[in-house]
Amino acid sequence: MKPIENYFVPWVKGIPMYVSSHIELAWRQPDLHRMMSNENPWEPSLMVQEAINKYGKLANRYPDQGLVVRSKIADINGVAGPENVMLGNGSSEIFDNIFRCFLQPGEEVIQHTPCFGIYKLRCNILGGKLVSVPMVYKEEQLLFDTNAILAAITDKTKIIVVANPNNPTGNFMAPTDFIRIADKGIPFIIDEAYVEFSGLGKSQVELIKKYKNVLITRTLSKAYGLAGLRFGYALGDKDVIGQISAALFPWNVGTIPMWVALAALEDVEALQKRVNFNNSEVDFIQESLGDVPGLIIFHSHSNYILFDGTDTGKSGDDMVAFALEKGLIFRPQKPMYGRDGWFRLTLGRKEENRMAIDTIREFYTQ
Ligand SMILES: Cc1ncc(COP(=O)(O)O)c(C=O)c1O
Repeated sequence: MKPIENYFVPWVKGIPMYVSSHIELAWRQPDLHRMMSNENPWEPSLMVQEAINKYGKLANRYPDQGLVVRSKIADINGVAGPENVMLGNGSSEIFDNIFRCFLQPGEEVIQHTPCFGIYKLRCNILGGKLVSVPMVYKEEQLLFDTNAILAAITDKTKIIVVANPNNPTGNFMAPTDFIRIADKGIPFIIDEAYVEFSGLGKSQVELIKKYKNVLITRTLSKAYGLAGLRFGYALGDKDVIGQISAALFPWNVGTIPMWVALAALEDVEALQKRVNFNNSEVDFIQESLGDVPGLIIFHSHSNYILFDGTDTGKSGDDMVAFALEKGLIFRPQKPMYGRDGWFRLTLGRKEENRMAIDTIREFYTQ
């Protein structure tokens, strides 16, 4: 008899379950301040809470295909209709579904690093080969490098994914660069998880009308503040969305998330309040720490801020450990560009942001 290990497909064998240690810690110790996972610090609006209660009572019922919420999404984004919209259990599931439709073992996914970690995980689980193209670190900025992305394309490239704005750098790629990549015809995912913080005017959604290979992904986890709900979506050409939707897990989005998402999309005021708060706090943190000698702050259009404190002579990991002693969970960032001073924080509530400012200043100036 062969041992069970021999039956696993090689690309799954040995991969550990994805566990986010900082999220585990935050749930175990709720007195710690969660400034690490790009969550929204505000609880759901009353309208959303009412929808949670209302549809909680219908949790004995299977969801339908979500035509109502998909139509609402189409409407908000100025695309033809629900046939241009696919729903996911968070946008993470959307990446998974798209990857499964295009990628065979040994084929390549191009990502632009540093970036969100899920692209790599979903690529690995399919036996794909991840090609990481680094951004350029120049004059205290991390810049998109479209030439390098285009140069990384081979005949095995099946997906290119770029987040806009990018996590963790918080900046946008130039609109003309999207066209240069889209013109290649390769499935091109533009991950707009944080775009609502700058408004949909910054979205590249218009590209889907011209390019069948472009897919836009979004989530309600960030500006809408519903990370625990798990709701994301993709926008694309109707034929492409139709084909990818064929690979969806049946009833992947539950009755509660589907209808609560609709309420959240309708509660325009709640979104605006969250966006305004976030953006003024980002500015406040950036201004407050602008005078710390040697600390590089990356101007963010999202709900997190990346720092490089290498020139202070202190490491990012030590910063994160120091913050934890003060009750704040920050996010470490592995050394890159030969520098080890990186860390990131997610915006919290007003008092949390002030604690973070004091903690960072104390760490670098003590
Ligand atoms: C760039 C980016 N895309 C997507 C997501 C995932 O969001 P979701 O909660 O919709 O799976 C994140 C979460 O941190 C992110 O940073």
